Amino acid sequence: MAKTKVAVLISGRGSNLKALIEACEDPSYPAEIVLVVSNNAKAGGLQHAQDAGIETEVLDHRDFDSRDDFEDALDTLLRLYAVRFVCLAGFMRILTASFTERWRDLLINIHPSLLPAFKGLHTHERALETGVRVHGCTVHYVRPEMDNGPIIGQAAVPVLHDDTPETLGARVLTAEHQLFPQCVALACSGKARVAAEHVRLQVREFGAELLMNPHD
Ligand code: GRF
Repeated sequence: MAKTKVAVLISGRGSNLKALIEACEDPSYPAEIVLVVSNNAKAGGLQHAQDAGIETEVLDHRDFDSRDDFEDALDTLLRLYAVRFVCLAGFMRILTASFTERWRDLLINIHPSLLPAFKGLHTHERALETGVRVHGCTVHYVRPEMDNGPIIGQAAVPVLHDDTPETLGARVLTAEHQLFPQCVALACSGKARVAAEHVRLQVREFGAELLMNPHD
């Protein structure tokens, strides 16, 4: 089956992008990354893409008069590369409803908390402040409201008594690197479809030791 042409949007270090690049090396993986876009020319993740021979583009939002102009340029770029599916992986710009609706059910995001808890920034600090025993990450289809939309998968990690935001964040990030490629594969192979704003999963295999949904 033809692989789905994917773009990954980043703003920073790009460790989730790297995890996805590695997953794409498997010939049976259902997606290929054809483009990495960063709104920040200094994003470390651009190097991961270049090392893998993937096309990169920098679209600096500060070069545009309005959010709409920025998104129009982004949309044009995605269509130029014949992109069919878009992943936000640490992309630090809020997208307008016009853009998210244009890419409805073809646009996903990874967020470092078990949504709907801890939307927004500083999720690990807030998890520790709140005293939750379980924390984690979520991959979801994007809707106009920030950190909201049908959930494809979540991975949970324990919160330990001596955790700092850094140690907890590192544990979550390890889980992100497993969850993200798995969810991209499910979405790009048509095994994670949205119906009535819930994701219906068709999966048989479950290989992770994390408490992770998708599962069988
Ligand atoms: C990740 O924690 C992701 O969940 C959040 O931004 C961070 C990006 O990290 N949306 P990286 O750039 O993939 O290393």
